[in-house]
Amino acid sequence: MSKSVIVVGAQWGDEGKGKVIDLLTKNCDAVVRFQGGHNAGHTLVIDGNKTVLHLIPSGIFNDVDCIIANGVVLHIPTLFEEIKSLESKGIEFINKLHLSSLCPLILPSHIALDEARENTLGNQAIGTTGRGIGPAYEDKVARRAIHLMDLLDEELFKDKLNNLMNYHNFLLTNLYKVNPINEEEVADQWLSFADTIEPYVKDTTQYLDSLIKNDSNILYEGAQGALLDIDHGTYPFVTSSNTTAGAASTGTGIGPRQFNSVLGIIKAYTTRVGSGPFPTELNDNIGEHIAKVGVEFGATTGRPRRCGWFDAVAARKSIINNSISHLCITKLDVLDDLDEILIAIEYEHEEETYTTYPAVSLSKLNKFKPRYKRYKGWKQSTAGITDFNKLPDEAKDYISAIQSMLHTKVSMISTGPDRADIIIMDELFS
Ligand code: GDP
Ligand code: IMO
Ligand code: MG
Repeated sequence: MSKSVIVVGAQWGDEGKGKVIDLLTKNCDAVVRFQGGHNAGHTLVIDGNKTVLHLIPSGIFNDVDCIIANGVVLHIPTLFEEIKSLESKGIEFINKLHLSSLCPLILPSHIALDEARENTLGNQAIGTTGRGIGPAYEDKVARRAIHLMDLLDEELFKDKLNNLMNYHNFLLTNLYKVNPINEEEVADQWLSFADTIEPYVKDTTQYLDSLIKNDSNILYEGAQGALLDIDHGTYPFVTSSNTTAGAASTGTGIGPRQFNSVLGIIKAYTTRVGSGPFPTELNDNIGEHIAKVGVEFGATTGRPRRCGWFDAVAARKSIINNSISHLCITKLDVLDDLDEILIAIEYEHEEETYTTYPAVSLSKLNKFKPRYKRYKGWKQSTAGITDFNKLPDEAKDYISAIQSMLHTKVSMISTGPDRADIIIMDELFS
């Protein structure tokens, strides 16, 4: 029987999704990106060799189909760069990479608008990755988007581009007072991509459906994290797509009854890159220690990631929003040297307490203080451990505390960046 597993980040992104997806791919036939774009940065370390993927699904180092489905906003120059760099490592793409004809395209003017909007916001800026993601999704919702299939029809593409660029350049010059983007240059450059990209373009819903009917195992690769979801995240400090598991359905065209389980990836602590609320943030030497040991720099922009304690209040919301059935805790080894490790179990303000991240205004949220439970550190190396029984007792206690707080089974524990550094308690595809 075909099995479908959705993998999502259950915090603010960068939980280690790429690593986990790569190692789970050995039991699959296809890996599918279903939302986001090249704002994602998914790191794979295989036998010490590091690769960061922005658009190509993290299963690419295995003999599987890699699908970029309709929910993804596609920046073709980044895709081509990634293909070129992976080809130099011996990866072949023909008959392996499949691009949805319905992917909305990201154009240079989306990137210019993203930058102009952020500059206008000043100290209220979201801290986007500057990849044009927000403006591209805006155009999709406004029914102005250019789909990948439009690029294969020169006249239609030029016509749609003209409409879109008139609108973008009006905003850039009149509202944001910055230079317009040259439409002719964009038309020439994008049309020059058409022949190269055409062999990969198809109806990926039909393709996936045929795989499912053929009893294939499918892995759906989430990007970003649940707390960056456009509906359920810390709005407006979010990305512009639904990052929660439901997007695996809308972002591929495969209906919800096809999905068997949802694996939520959580770091053993919390990080966030960009602006926005972060109740358990550590602005002290412990935060600095975690950042240093965890090498917490954005895989896409290189920005330092903010670090803090594990937040069970926020994680409980993710469990609900994604219907997470299994958890993978990553970066346990980063906490190895700490004397004491804290977990936020509630938020409190005067008489009110919340055990699940609440849907309230940011000003109200800012008044809440996390209440912590303290755990003894294990003070020994867990790096590279692959057997649960070999973990120190304090680390086992910490994991079991997270498991019982979230009422969700911890099925995997990651103890280092390499594919091999993993403890597997449950096989998701068995
Ligand atoms: P993603 O966006 O969720 O795929 O995560 P990123 O790749 O942006 O960030 C995760 C970072 O942590 C990468 O540098 C990984 O190589 C690294 N990493 C993943 N799992 C572990 C782990 O268990 N321990 C350590 N020390 N590093 C890890
Ligand atoms: P992966 O898939 C962490 C954040 C940005 C910013 C906000 C909006 O690697 O986990 P955007 O460019 O999407 O409009 O930025 O979302 N963000 C991420 N943070 N990991 C990511 O992806 C992210 N993708 C976007 O930093 O705060
Ligand atoms: Mg990342």
